[in-house]
Amino acid sequence: MAAAGGSRYLLTIGRWRRSFGIAPQFRALAALVPGVSHVDNKSDFLGKRPHRRHPGILQLSCVRLPQALADAAQLLLLESAMPNMEKQVQALTNYLWSRHLPVEPEELQIRAVLLEKKILENADSCQTEKHHEEVLRTLRRTTYHWQELSYNEGLSLVYMAARLDGGFAAVSRAFHEIQARLPEFQPQTLMDFGSGTGSVTWAAHSTWGQSLREYMCVDSSAAMLELAEKLLKGGSGSGMPCVPGVFFRQFLPVSPKVQFDVVVAAFSLSELPSKADRTDVVQTLWRKTGHFLVLVENGTKAGHSLLMDARNLVLNGKEKSPLDPRPGFVFAPNKKPKEEKFSMVILTRGSPEEANRWPRITQPVLKRPRHVHCHLCCPDGHMQHSVITAHRHGRDLYRCARVSSWGDLLPVITPSELPPSPAQDAPES
Ligand SMILES: C[S@@+](CC[C@H](N)C(=O)[O-])C[C@H]1O[C@@H](n2cnc3c(N)ncnc32)[C@H](O)[C@@H]1O
Repeated sequence: MAAAGGSRYLLTIGRWRRSFGIAPQFRALAALVPGVSHVDNKSDFLGKRPHRRHPGILQLSCVRLPQALADAAQLLLLESAMPNMEKQVQALTNYLWSRHLPVEPEELQIRAVLLEKKILENADSCQTEKHHEEVLRTLRRTTYHWQELSYNEGLSLVYMAARLDGGFAAVSRAFHEIQARLPEFQPQTLMDFGSGTGSVTWAAHSTWGQSLREYMCVDSSAAMLELAEKLLKGGSGSGMPCVPGVFFRQFLPVSPKVQFDVVVAAFSLSELPSKADRTDVVQTLWRKTGHFLVLVENGTKAGHSLLMDARNLVLNGKEKSPLDPRPGFVFAPNKKPKEEKFSMVILTRGSPEEANRWPRITQPVLKRPRHVHCHLCCPDGHMQHSVITAHRHGRDLYRCARVSSWGDLLPVITPSELPPSPAQDAPES
């Protein structure tokens, strides 16, 4: 099937513009995206599937909370009778979404020195104390004040009402990425750092419930652990848990001796007060990772930058696991669905060749009459804007591209002899 477009090349934006006689100033822009790709003719990628279900499609159009979880959450909210719940939910949602990373002490120091220099340049006297005060006042006024959230009983409940469904959906999408691409992967153990309401456990159970036998939930908040346990037991303190094999811990086990098949930190790295703390935790989590480390954060600049730091830490191998020397690689980058905007990175051990052979679509696919614009992040990290037509690339690839979305993989391969594009150093996202 794939052979239909086998030896043809995707028309890059440059060639497309030239063939339609577009002005030279646009050509300069086009030169920034010189990559070309051709359909993956090494595999029968469609098999007997229709184009609309080609194997690169990874989107989850709609994710529903398991009924038992939704019912338990509803019950707990009704029982709590907390005043102004809706207002509190909105306030917490806004706060979490607009939260920046904490300012690091070194950054603060640099800002203070620059400010002081500026103040001294404009000062007509040398009253050092007065200048110091002015520096401090200005820093206080202009520096973002990150605040640690204390998840007590009340805030845990508000968090549940605000984020249970969105968190569940985002993590389900990350797990779906692994399951769709590696259906033979059957994890037995999972660890969830900053487990909160336990939405990761529920999502993992929905995805790999047949094989998972141990879920280790780690959360420093006793109230959150209690809430997660209640949710598992239908909203009460007693009764049988809906998911068997769930354990709760207040501290992250650090020994590298015991690894988990899947390790997750969802919306939890952003709760840590400094870069040093995040580094520490990511290193520990990677040491505890047998197969996949799944990190999910908000689809904001802060969430993305935090995940890029974590990714680089693992890829640069700064942390060494004494018991597991296999290097890490990126299994999956971002996905930004309409309803729940989140950033994610999935790291795994071994060799990247097989897992990363198709490029990922990094922007909404533009469907135009008889052609489709796709922005691709290729396996070697270079970015490419391709215009796909049935005439040039064959009906299979054209139809696959038309039904694909942001975050999906496009079943094409990029010739390895391609020269690197100037955008090559852009992070894969
Ligand atoms: C924003 S909630 C995320 C909950 C859950 N992962 C989810 O996806 O909905 C962050 C959780 O991390 C926990 N947390 C913060 N610092 C922690 C630490 N140092 N160790 C363990 N848990 C921590 C908090 O108590 C909170 O429950």
